[in-house]
Amino acid sequence: MIKSDLQHIESELNEVISLFEDVEKLNIKHIFAKKEDRVVNTFVFVGKSFAYGNLMPKNLSEIEEKRLIKRFAKLSLYKALSRFYEKEMPWGSLTGIRPTKLAYSQLESTGEFEEFFIDTMKVSKEKTQLVKNVLNTQKGIYKKDDNNTDFFVFIPFCPSRCKYCSFITNDIEKTKAYVDEYVNALIEEIRHSAKYIKNLRSIYVGGGTPVSLDNKNLEKVLKELAKINTGVEFSVEAGRPDAITKENLKLLKDYGVNRICVNPQTFNNKTLQLLGRNHTAEQVIDVYNLTKDDFSVNMDLIAGLEKETFSDFKYSLDTALSLSPDNITVHTLCVKKGSYLSAETNRLSANEVNDMVDYAYNELTKNGYAPYYLYRQKYMAGNLENVGYTKPGKACVYNVDVMEEISQNVACGANAISKRVFNGGERIERCASPKDILTYLKNIEKIKSNKDKLFV
Ligand SMILES: C[S@@+](CC[C@H](N)C(=O)[O-])C[C@H]1O[C@@H](n2cnc3c(N)ncnc32)[C@H](O)[C@@H]1O
Ligand code: SF4
Repeated sequence: MIKSDLQHIESELNEVISLFEDVEKLNIKHIFAKKEDRVVNTFVFVGKSFAYGNLMPKNLSEIEEKRLIKRFAKLSLYKALSRFYEKEMPWGSLTGIRPTKLAYSQLESTGEFEEFFIDTMKVSKEKTQLVKNVLNTQKGIYKKDDNNTDFFVFIPFCPSRCKYCSFITNDIEKTKAYVDEYVNALIEEIRHSAKYIKNLRSIYVGGGTPVSLDNKNLEKVLKELAKINTGVEFSVEAGRPDAITKENLKLLKDYGVNRICVNPQTFNNKTLQLLGRNHTAEQVIDVYNLTKDDFSVNMDLIAGLEKETFSDFKYSLDTALSLSPDNITVHTLCVKKGSYLSAETNRLSANEVNDMVDYAYNELTKNGYAPYYLYRQKYMAGNLENVGYTKPGKACVYNVDVMEEISQNVACGANAISKRVFNGGERIERCASPKDILTYLKNIEKIKSNKDKLFV
């Protein structure tokens, strides 16, 4: 933890600290000084002092000056920790979720982002190149337009909880008393929210595991969404192969769904069992064969899973590649507070996870896939990232829009966050629904009126 002269940025300085392992115990003190056109950030810990000075450009607006002061403080702290630990991080001093968003904004203001990433923010050349490739793949999809609308629906149920997962979702068996009521409230919200749609870009039903709903409830949701569909990309994060059946696939197809996820996470049966996924690698392949002619398919993999080595991950990636789905998304294990996994049960070295992620990048790009979106989270193994890869022309519009925050997102269901963008995303207003199902059910009228205030 840090004690800073600039209290309002303490939480962001703590984000820099979380890039390094075991730093919390250092009790860092931050001293900030500004004199004329110069700021000096000094950090004191373990009896040592690390000081860095920066020149402040002239004629800055108040907002720009605040932004720069924060950036210099974070950068200085990163440099101090990097020197102390003799270690550089792949994303340097960058702490945000969306490195590509920062690259776009740099490009707009200065005409370049690579030098800024490498020289100023200390991002590695490899990660800078990754960002450059993502921006390149997004050409033709990336469109700033405040009227563009993506429509999201959240289904917070799963066939069972996976050990690593910290998403807000519920074992459907344990919550079956509320499922019908949830679906009815959701449909009411979808109906109410249809009027906010301006130029529809995509529909995305996420989870959880949407196909853990029985066919009657799934059909109700799909029927409602079919009413708003204008022939756009329509994804369902079907997800768990043990919940995908011929019958629910037929429903998805009949109601216009054209993209689904069939997620292995890993192709090693031992790991799948350990994670509580209740399906085998063979089942993933069987389900994929059922789906691949009717849908564009995405497969999620996770690098750094409990007890997996580089060769386990390599096997999973090679298997996914041999199946040739349109999209492969490579996540890096993130040990969040809400998951059953604790940080202690999974201490793979950052180097090992790094090797996995590098292998995925090299193999996928060699085999005709390109990275098309990426994001980072806190508590990620090796401080790495999640990357979506796509075959040419098959990138998921929803993922690009959501990551870059360049369109409005009309989101329905518990834990959904609707967003309205202004001036191409320069300003964003949000409205969040309660995370828990019962609170969602009780507050549906309030949720609708809050969304009216946001969108109308
Ligand atoms: C919201 S989940 C839904 C997917 C679907 N229910 C399934 O399990 O196949 C989306 C993806 O997030 C990833 N994920 C979930 N928990 C994670 C964690 N702790 N670390 C890294 N990736 C994670 C998984 O790859 C998962 O497929
Ligand atoms: S990984 Fe998917 S199936 Fe497993 S608990 Fe999370 S959302 Fe549910």
